[in-house]
Amino acid sequence: MDMHPFAHRRARLLATMQAGVAVVPTAPERIRNRDAHYPYRFDSYFHYLTGFAEPEAVLVLVAGAEPRSILFCRERNEEMEIWNGRRHGPERAREVFGFDEAHPVSELDAKLPDLLANQPALHYALGHDADFDARILAALNQVRGRVRTGQRAPAVIHDVRALVDAMRLVKDEHEVALMRRAAAISCAAHRRAMAAAAPQRMEYEIEAELLHEFRRAGAQAPAYTPIVAGGANACILHYVENDARLEAGDLLLIDAGCEVDGYAADITRTFPVSGRFSGPQRDVYELVLAAQAAAITEVRPGSPWDAPHNAAVRVLAQGMIDLGLLEGSVDAAIEYQAYRRFYMHRTGHWLGLDVHDAGDYKVAEAWRPLLPGMVLTVEPGCYIRPGEGVPEAFWNIGVRIEDDALVTAQGCEILTAAAPKQVAEIEALMAAARA
Ligand code: GLY
Ligand code: MN
Ligand code: MN
Repeated sequence: MDMHPFAHRRARLLATMQAGVAVVPTAPERIRNRDAHYPYRFDSYFHYLTGFAEPEAVLVLVAGAEPRSILFCRERNEEMEIWNGRRHGPERAREVFGFDEAHPVSELDAKLPDLLANQPALHYALGHDADFDARILAALNQVRGRVRTGQRAPAVIHDVRALVDAMRLVKDEHEVALMRRAAAISCAAHRRAMAAAAPQRMEYEIEAELLHEFRRAGAQAPAYTPIVAGGANACILHYVENDARLEAGDLLLIDAGCEVDGYAADITRTFPVSGRFSGPQRDVYELVLAAQAAAITEVRPGSPWDAPHNAAVRVLAQGMIDLGLLEGSVDAAIEYQAYRRFYMHRTGHWLGLDVHDAGDYKVAEAWRPLLPGMVLTVEPGCYIRPGEGVPEAFWNIGVRIEDDALVTAQGCEILTAAAPKQVAEIEALMAAARA
């Protein structure tokens, strides 16, 4: 792995801090049941600054005239490595990952008070992990106890995430390359799912096709729990049971993306189980597709964060009126949010190391303007539950179409364009798979 981007990010953070100490621990391992663990996933902030994937590791950055980056990590241990896997150990981790110093993590509590003493500020994500908070507070109190020796504890604690979030909002080349790979693998998985879907198959069989494609292509994990929702299940936004039978004549909504070296793709496609859209299904589908196209046009530098959402809502509201789902004028449907009966979520979110990635959506009181290098999803939908005043032809149709957009100098690049979404493309792919 190329360590240069991680060293560069640490240098940038140190320069922004100007003074003080940052402490960034990685995520703890979590018990799933008795002595079995959940698959390990590092903390996104820690990973962004280190590239180091082992648990039980802490980054300390000391800013100032002579900035230093220090890693605390597990020591080599033959017995543990025979049972649980390889470890870098501080010596090798320092060389490979380019830290100025590295120490055994068992020495962290003893060394922290000296690292904090006489520093003007501590940059730390207080409140994220109560166990680690206790270690930080104990270290601070130790320094405070040395006041008569002339030592001072940091007078202020800043949330280190604020500084790193600002960096994470604009992806560097290394990140964009990983996001392209996650997107490409996820697109292949969606094509595979479309080819595999058929009446009477189970939702989990299609989920298995997605997971198979992720893993065989080298993605470490799904970026989030896949949603594989046939028929009425598509109207449950976070449906994850994935255990129902697919019926002829229903749509199948799949929201799934993989994670590559920490970076997520997030794609939704909706297509007919039998390979052909019915008239009402096509009407709703084309409406959502048109809303997405309108939103994507707004993804360009300088556009405020909410412009794609507002564009999608206008198209959807007008379409809902045209289909007989809503009455009245489009302006009234928007003003009174009548469209929310069928479109109750927003049109996107930042995407990166976290599927709902870090970064504020507003700057002071205004929606954040988009900048080249930002990555966001564009994911309008329409979910029609049976109900009074709803034409029966549309009951239980749920459609979402979600792509990942990288803001470029001119507009945006859709990283997930290889997953078919035009009606003709989807029907052709499914017909070819059956032939
Ligand atoms: N898959 C989560 C989302 O679309 O936001
Ligand atoms: Mn999303
Ligand atoms: Mn999604």
